[in-house]
Amino acid sequence: MSLHNKVILVTGGASGIGRATVNRLALDGAHVIVADTQAQLAGEVVTEVQQAGGSAEVHELDVTQEGAAKAAVSAIVSAHGRLDGAFNNAGIAGPVVKLVDIDPSQWAQVLAVNLTGVFSCIQAEIAQMIQQESGGSVVNTASICGLVALSHAAAYNAAKHGVVGLTKTAALEYGRNNIRVNAICPGFIDTPMLEQSTGASVEMLNRAIGTVPMRRIANATEVADVVAWLLSAQSSYVNGVAMPVDGGRTVQ
Ligand SMILES: NC(=O)c1ccc[n+]([C@@H]2O[C@H](COP(=O)([O-])OP(=O)(O)OC[C@H]3O[C@@H](n4cnc5c(N)ncnc54)[C@H](O)[C@@H]3O)[C@@H](O)[C@H]2O)c1
Repeated sequence: MSLHNKVILVTGGASGIGRATVNRLALDGAHVIVADTQAQLAGEVVTEVQQAGGSAEVHELDVTQEGAAKAAVSAIVSAHGRLDGAFNNAGIAGPVVKLVDIDPSQWAQVLAVNLTGVFSCIQAEIAQMIQQESGGSVVNTASICGLVALSHAAAYNAAKHGVVGLTKTAALEYGRNNIRVNAICPGFIDTPMLEQSTGASVEMLNRAIGTVPMRRIANATEVADVVAWLLSAQSSYVNGVAMPVDGGRTVQ
């Protein structure tokens, strides 16, 4: 897969799926902007990339801060002249409680990061891609929770269904500008977030694995491979999909 000299922004690039994707994109020849609230960890990812012969830089970014995504895109364009691709992946786990027990502040926080954060990024990225007239590819991280509901996860489910709706709308509106917008819908992926969501409980994790036809969780690199494909020219006629990367979890 060639992403030679492509300038690609990855939010939530300091950890988990984002980190694996940063490494994969850099291996394929892209210059990757690792955007995250955890600037120090993002710096470690950049070092990892550089040690492997790739090219990356840190951009400290909180996707919930008004104007921050727009400023990040401006800084990238000032430094590199364009933005070819973006992976809007920053996200947080929601509270594991039933709907009536959700604290309004928890609801607001999950929606702010997982949905409005993606909106702010995609708006800034697409505005730039339209202006530069060379098209682009955007991938958003939804979840199997954007396709089906998991119990005790109303805020997370609502946000991720929203990401799928946002993705389809963007694909519809900007396909004519040669800007493709797709979502990935990961199942259970081995990252710090999964550990946090299952409370590091072996019983809870095994119960989740039992619902997956392939009877295992995935390595983050298995998601990164799909994202790299969606960002590359190899997927040039794929637009507006919400692609499960879930070992078959959502076929049932
Ligand atoms: N791990 C899974 O099983 C799984 C499954 C489905 C979807 N997802 C989604 O994948 C994405 C990545 O999750 P992960 O599992 O790699 O988790 P992770 O916790 O390892 O990584 C998430 C990253 O996002 C960053 N982040 C959080 N809030 C941010 C903000 N406001 N601004 C910028 N960066 C912020 C964190 O600092 C972290 O580096 C999330 O959107 C998550 O909802 C994960």
